[in-house]
Amino acid sequence: MSQKKQPPAGAAGLSKGLTNYGDTGFSLFLRKAFIKGAGYTDDALSRPVIGIVDTGSSYNPCHGNAPQLIEAVKRGVMLAGGLPVDFPTISVHESFSHPTSMYLRNLMSMDTEEMIRAQPMDAVVLIGGCDKTVPAQLMGAASANVPAIQLVTGSMLTGAHRGERVGACTDCRRYWGRYRADEIDAAEISDVNNQLVASVGTCSVMGTASTMACVTEALGMMVFGGGSAPAVTADRVRVAEQTGTTAVAMARSGLTPDRILDGKSIENALRVLLAIGGSTNGIVHITAIAGRLGIDIDLAGLDAMSKETPVLVDLKPSGQHYMEDFHKAGGMPALLRELRPLLHLDTMTVSGRTLGEMLDEAPAAFAQDVIRPFDKPIYPLGGLAVLRGNLAPGGAIIKQSAANPRLMEHEGRAVVFENAEDMALRIDDDDLDVTAEDILVLKRIGPTGAPGMPEAGYMPIPRKLARAGVKDMVRISDGRMSGTAAGTIVLHVTPESAIGGPLAHVRTGDRIRLSVKNREISLLISDEELARRAAEVKIERPSAERGYRKLFLQTVTQADQGVDFDFLRATETTDKVPRPR
Ligand code: FES
Repeated sequence: MSQKKQPPAGAAGLSKGLTNYGDTGFSLFLRKAFIKGAGYTDDALSRPVIGIVDTGSSYNPCHGNAPQLIEAVKRGVMLAGGLPVDFPTISVHESFSHPTSMYLRNLMSMDTEEMIRAQPMDAVVLIGGCDKTVPAQLMGAASANVPAIQLVTGSMLTGAHRGERVGACTDCRRYWGRYRADEIDAAEISDVNNQLVASVGTCSVMGTASTMACVTEALGMMVFGGGSAPAVTADRVRVAEQTGTTAVAMARSGLTPDRILDGKSIENALRVLLAIGGSTNGIVHITAIAGRLGIDIDLAGLDAMSKETPVLVDLKPSGQHYMEDFHKAGGMPALLRELRPLLHLDTMTVSGRTLGEMLDEAPAAFAQDVIRPFDKPIYPLGGLAVLRGNLAPGGAIIKQSAANPRLMEHEGRAVVFENAEDMALRIDDDDLDVTAEDILVLKRIGPTGAPGMPEAGYMPIPRKLARAGVKDMVRISDGRMSGTAAGTIVLHVTPESAIGGPLAHVRTGDRIRLSVKNREISLLISDEELARRAAEVKIERPSAERGYRKLFLQTVTQADQGVDFDFLRATETTDKVPRPR
């Protein structure tokens, strides 16, 4: 190519997205000169360029195997004739993110989108795993619309404490609850702390990370069978190699996310979310991904899907097993085979073939007790239920498969905490006026309230009740809870209290009714009284002076829009889910 010649329309490889120096020929000349400084030949630089997003970080042990995965992806790319180029984006770990990882998910999605768009690549491999990373990457990839394939780091192994198998983080919460109730001492809780995370990788139960791994496979954005292999296994490394090879094929065929992600694949993802007893966070993340493509999720329709989609996967916190068991039982192909009658089989996958075609070639079923047959579920309905009422006009979510059946039809007296600090100050006070039949209410932990909608919806049982043996109570908030948690916990109350949702006006002593059967969450006061209280209080939307926090508080949406920034969502509706069958 002459130095002054313009790159052809639809430029590929290193010619894509040239830096603007006012002379495109010079821009390519300069780019090549710089990358040749790393020792590349013209032959290497003529190949399809496959970007590999490296989210390895010493702050993120869930991604501790990233170097090994990158090496395997590169091998796969080169075996298929491509040029692998890894690059970093931010990495977000649940326990190392203040105030909460959700506050940073949209920032990571923007980083992912813009770096995919800014740098020359014909396809991109997204390596994520910990809860917010996979949603952030899928949101960014959906918006960038360059051929993209997700690789998850895989789940951690389980450990053992005094002969009992344990894993993060359902058992973290269970043992911490026992410690708070004085059932175990400081020495034992310290021993447990050594065993809960037995290797690098993501949480070993059906928490948010595992949920999003399964959901991504259902979306078609991952190699078939790639969702479940634990982080430290040969299977996980093979999946990584296969991901690299597949990425090159996607680059050659131009298989972009908009050909894979549509209303049907989003609906398949929701089906899987329900059937795995998946994290309540899953609905927020799927809504955000769909929102990037203009696909609206109707919560009433989701609830209707839940009534016909049983929980088939017997994993904690809804069941008893761990992700490594799910993998040995056949993983997602085995589950998708059971769900086949409920799925859209003509959806496209990263393989270039439809989900139905992939399922036709799936390994035969074998005897196991982790993924149940459709007619022998571990829970007869879907894992999640959508509640409405005067307390949550925009909806609320409960993970019914992990709730206490006795409490799912319950009326009780509200014990209100105005915010997380108020709860921390008073929840363990022996003088707190609370009984096991009361309903704990926590305000101001929604998208703008905390900010970032932290996973504080899993309120601890007040210490004096925990010591008396109380294991569960009805708890209500506008926040989220970890996918690894269980209990009768109403979450994502919309609109949130910090912007004046009805939750803001609940007072200690009010009566609240929860009826999962009727899908109801109601504050038992008159409309006039609720309006009077609302008129009494002037609520100002939280704000900040500068920086990312200002952007966040000014533009974050509510849970029913995925807690995405309003300016990142698609400007037009392209589809609605569920679709008519
Ligand atoms: Fe990373 Fe649970 S903390 S997946």
